[in-house]
Amino acid sequence: MDINGSKIPSHVAIIMDGNGRWATARGKNRSAGHREGSKNVDRIVSHAFFKGVKTLTLYAFSAENWERPKEEVDELMRLLKVYFTKFIGKALKNNVRLKVIGDKSRLSDELRELIERDEKKSENNEGRNLLVAINYGGRQEIVSAVNVLIRDGKEVTVSSVSERLYTAPFGEPDLIIRTGGEKRLSNFLLYQGAYSELYFTDVLWPDFDEAEFDKAIEEFGQRNRRYGKV
Ligand code: IPE
Ligand code: IPE
Ligand code: MG
Repeated sequence: MDINGSKIPSHVAIIMDGNGRWATARGKNRSAGHREGSKNVDRIVSHAFFKGVKTLTLYAFSAENWERPKEEVDELMRLLKVYFTKFIGKALKNNVRLKVIGDKSRLSDELRELIERDEKKSENNEGRNLLVAINYGGRQEIVSAVNVLIRDGKEVTVSSVSERLYTAPFGEPDLIIRTGGEKRLSNFLLYQGAYSELYFTDVLWPDFDEAEFDKAIEEFGQRNRRYGKV
């Protein structure tokens, strides 16, 4: 509940899509769109926590995004490095805990070390969690959780799998927002999203501002979550 009595989702996840189209519409290259999109991240992170969201999960780079042209992938990796270099100062001030979800083994040593530094330095921050999905795939996450269970000789159940997902301590998203107009999950939080409310907007990620975020929250407040019951 916020001060106006509306429901605030505790965990919000965002598929930050539409950077490429934002750039193309302006006659710029796709990398320019990613630079613009990266400027929007802090604005939405601050606003979400200000509204009372406890956990925000951002889809930054999918396991399939490696298939893009090398130049674009390089620019995305460079932007992530810039982000995590600057992140820790703000995180400590604002009490934000960072966790990167996805397979970090394919990232450069430099990026992985930055992420691990930030995760370690922010691990005692409580109440506000920022999860960033990088080289993340929902199918890959489920398969690796099941493989760990098999390796350890444990029973595979709905809850044992759930406990081995990257997001385990942070719970499932109440609301998944996708910007950029596509109506699909693109391999994002497939297991955790079983009962998430989905919100799709045509607004491209670089244009998705505080007011657009508030629209999503407002619509969430009107949804009736039944979880299969009546
Ligand atoms: C989302 O924007 C960012 C990433 C996938 C990394 P896109 O780059 O997918 O933008 P569109 O969908 O081509 O407009
Ligand atoms: C999903 O967007 C991945 C991220 C936003 C990081 P994509 O642009 O990669 O998804 P598709 O290809 O349209 O499904
Ligand atoms: Mg896209």
